[in-house]
Amino acid sequence: MGIAEQQLSDEAQYCADTFNGAIASAAVSAAWEIGLLDELERSGRVGIAEYATASGAHPDVVRAVLVALSTRRIVTLDPARTEAATGPGFDDAYRTKGFFYWLTRGCGELLTTLPGKVLDADRQGDFVRRDSRAISVACRNIARTFFDPPFRELLKDTDCSVVADLGCGSSDRLIMLADLMPQIRGIGIDVAAGAITVSKEAIADAGMEGRISLVQDDVLNLAPREEYESVDLVTCFLMGHDFWPRENAVTMLRRLRETFPNAKSLVIGDTCRSTGVDGPQHPMFTLGFETVHAVMDQYIPTLEEWSGVLAESGWRIADRRMIDLPAFSFIYRLAPA
Ligand SMILES: C[S@@+](CC[C@H](N)C(=O)[O-])C[C@H]1O[C@@H](n2cnc3c(N)ncnc32)[C@H](O)[C@@H]1O
Repeated sequence: MGIAEQQLSDEAQYCADTFNGAIASAAVSAAWEIGLLDELERSGRVGIAEYATASGAHPDVVRAVLVALSTRRIVTLDPARTEAATGPGFDDAYRTKGFFYWLTRGCGELLTTLPGKVLDADRQGDFVRRDSRAISVACRNIARTFFDPPFRELLKDTDCSVVADLGCGSSDRLIMLADLMPQIRGIGIDVAAGAITVSKEAIADAGMEGRISLVQDDVLNLAPREEYESVDLVTCFLMGHDFWPRENAVTMLRRLRETFPNAKSLVIGDTCRSTGVDGPQHPMFTLGFETVHAVMDQYIPTLEEWSGVLAESGWRIADRRMIDLPAFSFIYRLAPA
């Protein structure tokens, strides 16, 4: 019997979708990294042979990537599979590509080795590896799309001259702020070598070497530096959960007051642990975020838990924005209490 005559039960189809979704997730990342997704966004369609010739790609792999995307209606293919056009799911996939890239390129190794990370006996030493370069690139895209617009709005009436960004990743936020406010200088702090490399390239590309400096250090245990005294705005996006568990988070937030004694604002944006979602209702990102952090033994607090910690942190809430995607996300603007 051919596939066309097969009548799959709903559950069997759901199961097939699960399998195909895993391939399609990797295909979104690949298509974005090689420029295929951007080409589709620009032109609406791509000829496989022409694209492969122009980009030096293997045509059969380009076709395989596009077929995988077609299983999720991100593209449609002509019957001969020579050309792809954007499908009804393209806009959503394009907008959320950073989540796919974070998952498959940034956390791919963690997921493919998941069976070896479950037993306590296997969870010894340095057992988790993620690609910090890919995570920086993914977070830059996620932050630009979902966090930066409300962040800029939150900052509208804030006056500042030196910004320190904790866990700066690609330094995209500092570059954006330096663009927006010609008077400011920025200090990006990140522990990961991959993030510092991506940052250096981005700062050089933006011609901002004179205005943004980088420090490779552990934010949880920052060595004091004279330059921190001039900082009047501290920002921290998508890494606040690294401050936890609770007692560490309170200590950490209080210590920031000492490390940056002249900071007038601390802006924290992050994603919390989900509450009240079950089974198939999980929204985009939540499941990946919580699975990956469970493997890394990193506690993710709920919004309520964050509120409790902020009350004891030495900072008071001056303003806040809630964010729909990633779900359960917030930006708080805090002022010294
Ligand atoms: C999810 S990324 C977010 C990057 C960036 N803040 C953004 O919004 O795009 C988290 C970043 O925090 C950095 N990070 C995590 N723990 C850190 C620590 N203890 N000290 C310094 N950086 C840290 C990671 O290396 C990574 O670049």
